[in-house]
Amino acid sequence: MNTYNIGVIPGDGIGPEVTAEALRVLQAVMSLDGFDCNFVEYPYSGTYYLQTKELVPERVIDEWRQLDGVLLGAIGHPDVEPGLVERSVILGLRFGLDLYINLRPIKLYAEHLCPLKGKGPEHIDFTVIRENTEGLYAQIGGFLKKGTADEVATVTGVYTRKGVERAIRYAYQMAHLRAQDRGRPARLTLVDKANAIRPQDIWTRVFAEVGEEYPDVEQDHAYVDACTMWMVKNPEWFDLIVTTNLFGDIITDLGAMLQGGMGIAASGNIHPGKTSMFEPIHGSAPKYAGKQVACPLGAILAVGMMLEFLGKKSAANQIESAVGHLLSTGTIPSADAHSGLSTSQVGEMVIEQIYNQQQIAQNSSP
Ligand code: IPM
Ligand code: MG
Repeated sequence: MNTYNIGVIPGDGIGPEVTAEALRVLQAVMSLDGFDCNFVEYPYSGTYYLQTKELVPERVIDEWRQLDGVLLGAIGHPDVEPGLVERSVILGLRFGLDLYINLRPIKLYAEHLCPLKGKGPEHIDFTVIRENTEGLYAQIGGFLKKGTADEVATVTGVYTRKGVERAIRYAYQMAHLRAQDRGRPARLTLVDKANAIRPQDIWTRVFAEVGEEYPDVEQDHAYVDACTMWMVKNPEWFDLIVTTNLFGDIITDLGAMLQGGMGIAASGNIHPGKTSMFEPIHGSAPKYAGKQVACPLGAILAVGMMLEFLGKKSAANQIESAVGHLLSTGTIPSADAHSGLSTSQVGEMVIEQIYNQQQIAQNSSP
């Protein structure tokens, strides 16, 4: 039997609650699909920092590199300096494991979940490929004369040829596979701000150059401001989007709302062929912590993305179709803290639906 070593970082706020449900769902598909996982839990979080003053040590990053995958709940504590633990854990993983792709599917499972008038599942189904190790997140910059009237704060956006090319290449490859699957061309939209930020012209050039290798991928472009407008006005236009780190961060919160809220959006922080990290895109939502009202679907779908990454396609499909079914039938009425269902009830329903699907599949096979 295949055994995977999975690191688990439940984190802060609602992180532990949603992670617990995600792990229960994972256990269920493990037993159905016949594979095994060893879980190694890590305490790093704002809460742990307040108790111990410890952030993620270098040796733990080395340890993470040896795992098959990492699941993260949420990081962020109101009593800790903003960003300190997020940079240590989330950016520690992204930079430390060189997870250069942040894959964020935006898929609407039921019309009533979408705040846009007249848009249904047939209109909202696209994937954002966010570059995940460079741009304005490169941590180059700082303060001069901090706190004085002469203060200067600088930050440098970094776009390396290698970093830009590997993100763009990944996006084209994904678009190409999608085109092959569907038997018609896929569309890849480059989202940047190369009119105002001229160094982003490196994205324009690399996009055109790599695109020559992918004749079945239609090349498209939008400036990021216009992209937010199109995402609201005509989300059906988008198929795949490739973009810089910060723009990807911003447009995927908008994307999460299009698919029903932060409670359902999942992401994969990926280095193809190496240890990768999967997380819901929501934060720690301190006001909901411990109340059992947070929606665990983002965390559950993140487990699905991890399984797909590990080559467990059918287990991943089981999870996605269970979530899709429960949302489209209204059994789970919303993907937020006001669904009337507790966090663990939602997890339970997903597991039950997975078993039902399995039963149906068994009964219909000869
Ligand atoms: C995300 C988050 C992170 C980011 C924060 C918590 C550092 O917003 O994963 O989208 O900015 O990337
Ligand atoms: Mg974000």
